Amino acid sequence: MKQTILFFALLAFAFTQHTFADAPDSAYLFSYATVKNNGKNGLHYAWSIDRKNWNGIGPEFRFLFSDFGTWGSQKRLLTPFLFQDQQGTWHAIWSLNEQVGQFAHAQTSDLYTWDPQSYPEVMIDGNVTMPEVTYQPNAKNYRITWLSQTNGLQKIFKTTTTDFKKYTPTVEASENDRMYAREEVLIDGEKQTGTVTKVPWQFIDGLIRFYELSKYHEKQRAERLTDDAGRFAGLTELTAEITADGENRKAISNMLIGVFFEDINYAADGGLYAELVQNRGFEYTPADIKFRDKNWNSKKAWSFTGNQEFVIDTVAPVHPHQKHYAVLTIAKIGEALQNEGFDGIPLKAGDKYHFSVFVRGLDGAKGKLLVRLVDPNGKVYAAGTTPSAGAHWKKLELVLTAKEGTDNAQLQLIPQFTGKVALDLVSLFPQKTFKERRNGLRADLAQAIADMHPRFVRFPGGCLAHGDGLHNIYRWKNTIGPLESRKPDRNIWNYHQSMGLGYFEYFQFCEDIGAEPLPVVAAGVPCQNSSTGGYGQQGGIPMCEMDQYVQDILDLIEWANGDKNTYWGKKRAEAGHPEPFNLKYLGIGNEDLITDIFEERFTLIFNAIKEKHPEITVIGTVGPFSEGTDYRVGWEIASKLQVPLVDEHYYQPPGWYLNNQDFYDRYDRSKPKVYLGEYATHLPGRKLTVETALCDALHLLNVERNADVVSMTSYAPLLAKHGHTQWNPDLIYFSNTDIFLTPDYYVQQLFGQNPGDEYIPTRIKLSANDPEVRKRVASSLVRDHKTGDYILKLANLLPVDVRANIPLTALPEFKKEATLTVLKGGIEEEKVTPTVSPTEVNADFRYQLPAYSFSVIRFKLN
Ligand code: AHR
Repeated sequence: MKQTILFFALLAFAFTQHTFADAPDSAYLFSYATVKNNGKNGLHYAWSIDRKNWNGIGPEFRFLFSDFGTWGSQKRLLTPFLFQDQQGTWHAIWSLNEQVGQFAHAQTSDLYTWDPQSYPEVMIDGNVTMPEVTYQPNAKNYRITWLSQTNGLQKIFKTTTTDFKKYTPTVEASENDRMYAREEVLIDGEKQTGTVTKVPWQFIDGLIRFYELSKYHEKQRAERLTDDAGRFAGLTELTAEITADGENRKAISNMLIGVFFEDINYAADGGLYAELVQNRGFEYTPADIKFRDKNWNSKKAWSFTGNQEFVIDTVAPVHPHQKHYAVLTIAKIGEALQNEGFDGIPLKAGDKYHFSVFVRGLDGAKGKLLVRLVDPNGKVYAAGTTPSAGAHWKKLELVLTAKEGTDNAQLQLIPQFTGKVALDLVSLFPQKTFKERRNGLRADLAQAIADMHPRFVRFPGGCLAHGDGLHNIYRWKNTIGPLESRKPDRNIWNYHQSMGLGYFEYFQFCEDIGAEPLPVVAAGVPCQNSSTGGYGQQGGIPMCEMDQYVQDILDLIEWANGDKNTYWGKKRAEAGHPEPFNLKYLGIGNEDLITDIFEERFTLIFNAIKEKHPEITVIGTVGPFSEGTDYRVGWEIASKLQVPLVDEHYYQPPGWYLNNQDFYDRYDRSKPKVYLGEYATHLPGRKLTVETALCDALHLLNVERNADVVSMTSYAPLLAKHGHTQWNPDLIYFSNTDIFLTPDYYVQQLFGQNPGDEYIPTRIKLSANDPEVRKRVASSLVRDHKTGDYILKLANLLPVDVRANIPLTALPEFKKEATLTVLKGGIEEEKVTPTVSPTEVNADFRYQLPAYSFSVIRFKLN
């Protein structure tokens, strides 16, 4: 922090000198975009005194970035046009790509702090290129013209606006309406096209400062522990005195550590949801994975050993939400329909498995099914026969016992009759699910989550919650009730959601592990990177449908908390939970693009919940980063509406955590509280090592100090299946049979198992004065009133030990028996586990913080 202050002092000094000694009154500003990186590098600036010699401000440095469409192909900023309105506000408009009939608009007062972007649709048929703006003094409005290719012809069109929010209908324009105000200038020897304006020098000065500061932050972010050998060469063992300030205690949140479960990386189907049959309802569709694989369809994971191909039908299904089912034509008894599971079906010797299927005999066929679990060599591990099926859909069930264990079984269904038979919702569950729940969760994974002692579980996402376009918004009502009535959907992470793990199962899991449920529903807008429906872009549920959408959210509260005699409470009771779930928190939105569209819908939902259910704590959203437009405007909206909590997200490299330790110290305590809903330390290559774990720990120590304003946190994402990972890093990796706990998992676990509700400030007096060294040693002391214990957490992110004297004399007398837990290792190590040992504490307590370690000392009062 001191270093930051020093930097700002130097920067201020340098600029003061520059500004006042010989700065011009005004200069020319050139704004442009290059074609590099397919036009995705954003808006650039250059300045000139004489309009001939141009100085690029950090050439290719982006002062504005397009938010339009999906990552990868979109987010392009083409042919920008910068313009200052009559009130002095700057506006940039630009073309988005070569196809859409929209242009982009954003405005700013300082040329680098931009308000939310909008993308007015001005062409129904035709694209928008080279847009430009002129003020029309007589009409007192702004005329926007552009070129458009319609039916192979290039034409000019125009619209007008007074506020850049509402536009008059588009009409064809003439050459006279165009100004062709763009110029070509040379920057670093390269010709660039853009607009030139004369501006007071302070604007250029501000842009240069902004650029310099960004560069400085970039340098800070690049700091790595892996560079310590050079950075700290010659550093030897340090000593420290760590003292507690018993006077200035403060109450802190006792909800600090939770988990964020998102169905990403096969976290649900094929993961936590214990179903062993893949594509059990024959509902996979090529659209799930954007038509990238023609074999990803209703037959995925299934095969038939008979001579005739099995077919998929949709006439008279078990339930309209489960449209597809399989029809087999059995020519000879012995022909089998087989399912390969999710990379094989794992079986444990002696364990029981619950099988079920919906069956309907066609054209008079009827009889029983032989059900077997076999390996690819035909070895049979379990077998059983169902009751008979007839002419109507009937659910048949049986229990299979595995004689031996294997990782790679297949499920076989062998009708014991010839003719045609329809099958749907073929299911196989281990009986040993977590807490032995039917339709339950994989026990080892659920236990690993429970072991973190999370105080809450946020679900079902993430991007999954707001979906890939309007039709993909996660609707909780589609995920409750009998499995055959649930409505499967495409998973935004490019696979399939069976919805077998639905809202009932999430709430039940929370109850089973003593965590508060924190469902997140979309704020009436889909993912800012939506890719379905043309080029995507946020859009929003039409306002005429918003009342129903708001009602769905109110119904969720009734479903969770209503009496069993209410309409929705009854549904919960029918599912096996007559008592209310006691929902307290509800997330509205997920790092959405903060636009007018968002604000209108969020406000509607927020006000409705506030009015009807003031007992619910609503959590708002402030974009995907720790700075920028969404963060700034999201906070403004949340503060204006007095939203109780806002959900912040940021994924940062080690250097950010090392150099932003005062991030929450700066937060205004009178504004909404923070739920840090997604964060992680990201390395190039996205591995989790001792380095990332220690940066997480350091951050959480700083958060704990600020847990009067940060109420909740959750690392993201939680689960990832080997071979099916869309996002790295994740806290827990798993295969069908094993789980792999990362160093970062253990940090979460240590914080989760050692929470406090009172913070006691500590002071570290280190034998080194170098701020680079000092910022690497941190402590936090909390008291947990439930157990009465005090917990001291210590992080050492240095390559040397720190011998600490910890005279905790400001605290009441404590027992000498304490527990010490230490997580340490080489900074590049990926496999470490904490060691737990008894230790002794007294008034003259000494502890040596190992190099690169995180230690937790838990002690009791006398
Ligand atoms: O945690 C993975 C993703 O990161 C979440 O779905 C999204 O909210 C964020 O961008």
